[in-house]
Amino acid sequence: MRLDKFLCDMNKGTRSRVKKDIKAGLVTVNGMVITKPEYGVNEQTDTVCYKDVTCVYEKYVYYMLNKPAGVVSATEDKRERTVVDLLDREGRGDLFPVGRLDKDTEGLLLLTNDGELAHALLSPKKHVEKEYECHLAHALTAQQIERLEQGVDIGEKELTKPAKVCVLTDEAISQSAGKSGAADGSIITLTITEGKFHQVKRMLHAVDNEVLYLKRIRMGNLVLDERLEKGAYRRLEKWEITGLE
Ligand code: URA
Repeated sequence: MRLDKFLCDMNKGTRSRVKKDIKAGLVTVNGMVITKPEYGVNEQTDTVCYKDVTCVYEKYVYYMLNKPAGVVSATEDKRERTVVDLLDREGRGDLFPVGRLDKDTEGLLLLTNDGELAHALLSPKKHVEKEYECHLAHALTAQQIERLEQGVDIGEKELTKPAKVCVLTDEAISQSAGKSGAADGSIITLTITEGKFHQVKRMLHAVDNEVLYLKRIRMGNLVLDERLEKGAYRRLEKWEITGLE
């Protein structure tokens, strides 16, 4: 691997930044100053130091993104801005989103280059919980909750697996919000263990309600960091990665 790519992959800066730093003599490989950005390093065996600090190469990287509405969950797209574009990093071109959120859905999206972990998280056999905050067009009735909790017909071969519903607004809040001109629908969290296309929207539609706003707040043990602004991202902490496995 080229020395400049190694340093970009390790988050030391953009390709042009690390090239400048290499040429300025700020990088050593096995104790020798290397000034050629294209110098080949073995990421397993060579010791690379950048500004006197040893860089241990990480094969896999994990980012939590607070996805904003208006970007697509893909690695590339001819017309639309993608979630990978939001990571605006040069060098590491192997990141992909784990699963998809609709273009208008916000919230937690994991991006990684760890295919095995992604596969495990998305496998239908693993029943990994996905929790969504949903703003609904109408107040959710007890009967609708019961149906969602039992499983509903969204036009697939089988009913959806039982979901968990938690109503965050009660009727009184809904009504006063209605009077003040805001939407009078419930705000709920819905937790599902599947990942069918538009699943949450289709489930609420199946019980004669409608999702107006959708945000994923949790996937398995990984909880959206609410300190992340929309469109912002950060690396996962070690304990968060372990919690996903
Ligand atoms: N369910 C949906 O309907 N949309 C999403 O983006 C995610 C789950």
